[in-house]
Amino acid sequence: MDVISAIKKRSSCRDFKKTQIKNEDLNLLMDAALASPTAINLQDLKINVVQDANLIHDISQECFRLMDEKVKKRMQDRKADSIFYNAPTVFILSSPKTIYSDLNAGIVAQSLCIAAESLGLASCIIGMAAPAFAKTNPNNLKNRLDMADDECFCVSVAIGYANSKKLPHEFNYNQIRGFF
Ligand SMILES: Cc1cc2nc3c(=O)[nH]c(=O)nc-3n(C[C@H](O)[C@H](O)[C@H](O)COP(=O)(O)O)c2cc1C
Repeated sequence: MDVISAIKKRSSCRDFKKTQIKNEDLNLLMDAALASPTAINLQDLKINVVQDANLIHDISQECFRLMDEKVKKRMQDRKADSIFYNAPTVFILSSPKTIYSDLNAGIVAQSLCIAAESLGLASCIIGMAAPAFAKTNPNNLKNRLDMADDECFCVSVAIGYANSKKLPHEFNYNQIRGFF
């Protein structure tokens, strides 16, 4: 699949099959993450690859425990009992907090989503996992990912095969301001 098609075809999947992704695809996804640029080429982002179903479950449960009622209702409406929508592979991006850490992580997240799309896999960027790793949460799961004290959760990406998937969102051309 060419890159532009993969970018345009990608949409967030909130209904994954349990089937695990192939190891060869996992290797390509890890390469796509590592090929992503980081500010000053520091490469200081940690790319935690999680396929341990118990760990994925525990992270999700901790987020559900702290979730406010409005978000809980949204998850119920989506018939979702996991913040990762049962995806079998989750990339959790973490880093020492710098002015660029979230931007670096965002770039890796999109690289992962586009690479996944090109491999016939589905993805969803998940910011909602943050409370499970918050320093202010005494029950945080940072130690389960060997995260250092100064390491912060940036964002996560759920990846797997889609059971069902919505169409890509409509483009809003008002977002573009042209100076030609
Ligand atoms: C930084 C970021 C965080 C997101 N966090 C979540 C999340 O926690 N849960 C979720 O279901 N979707 C999450 N999304 C997906 C967005 O809701 C989705 O990208 C948006 O609705 C547009 O839909 P599309 O991805 O299909 O184009 C996140 C997206 C981004 C960019």
